[in-house]
Amino acid sequence: MDSNNKLQTLTTIAELRSRLNAERASGKRIALVPTMGNLHQGHLRLVETAVANADFVVASIFVNPLQFGPNEDLERYPRTLAEDQAQLEAFGCNLLFAPTEAEVYPQGRAGQTFVEVPGISDLYCGASRPGHFRGVTTIVNKLFNLIQPDVAVFGCKDYQQLHVIRRMVDDLSMPVELIGVSTERAANGLALSSRNGYLTEDELAIAPALYAALCDLRAALKGGDTNHERLIEHAQQHLERNGFMRDYIHILRRSDMLAATAADRELVIIAAAYLGAARLIDNIEVDL
Ligand code: PAF
Repeated sequence: MDSNNKLQTLTTIAELRSRLNAERASGKRIALVPTMGNLHQGHLRLVETAVANADFVVASIFVNPLQFGPNEDLERYPRTLAEDQAQLEAFGCNLLFAPTEAEVYPQGRAGQTFVEVPGISDLYCGASRPGHFRGVTTIVNKLFNLIQPDVAVFGCKDYQQLHVIRRMVDDLSMPVELIGVSTERAANGLALSSRNGYLTEDELAIAPALYAALCDLRAALKGGDTNHERLIEHAQQHLERNGFMRDYIHILRRSDMLAATAADRELVIIAAAYLGAARLIDNIEVDL
């Protein structure tokens, strides 16, 4: 925490570019923490990581309409700018870019040029949320162009998102270092997420079962069980008995996020499930 830090908030691309040109000219290493706001401890860990890896830290808050499906939570996504600004300032962030939609997409949502990573963007979360990753890679690419960060920091809770962004950065030779920060959890294991705010008190008590199911799956894999299909079905049924509605659970190899075989040693289990009005996602890495 830095009690002397003063956060500047800018809303236009012109102001942002002129401010960052000055910082870059003085030789500063610039970090970017892209967010959609409603910051929690998980986001603040990203800011701390950015502060430790750069001289000048920029956060962005933009609820990106391109990554929401037609029946998703774009309108009700929590917007808490004043609280977010106070937290960013306390954690040493130097500049907040909080543009309007018209500033980011002057051609409108339909007229926007897209950036898309093929294949992986259509799997898992991409299958449940068509167009989601195209929206993410488009806005992240745009933020990289605007801010030209030396380093950008993302949470590992959105495991597939980070994988897709790494592919975009590699495929397009973008000169930015990516840092993934491990998931921040409540004491009961629940991964922190802005969408946890949609949960009722009863659902909040149930929600940690998702991570518990991932931990049980990891234990089974480490114990030598290789019947992935049966393990996953068992976990799904357990979650359904607890009040979740299934979306997916997959056991993947980490390198390409495709289905793991018995020969793979570095795995990740990814899961998404509906609980009341929220769709929760989580993941756990497994080394065999
Ligand atoms: O992870 C998020 O909050 C968003 O997907 C991101 C990376 C800020 C892009 O809108």
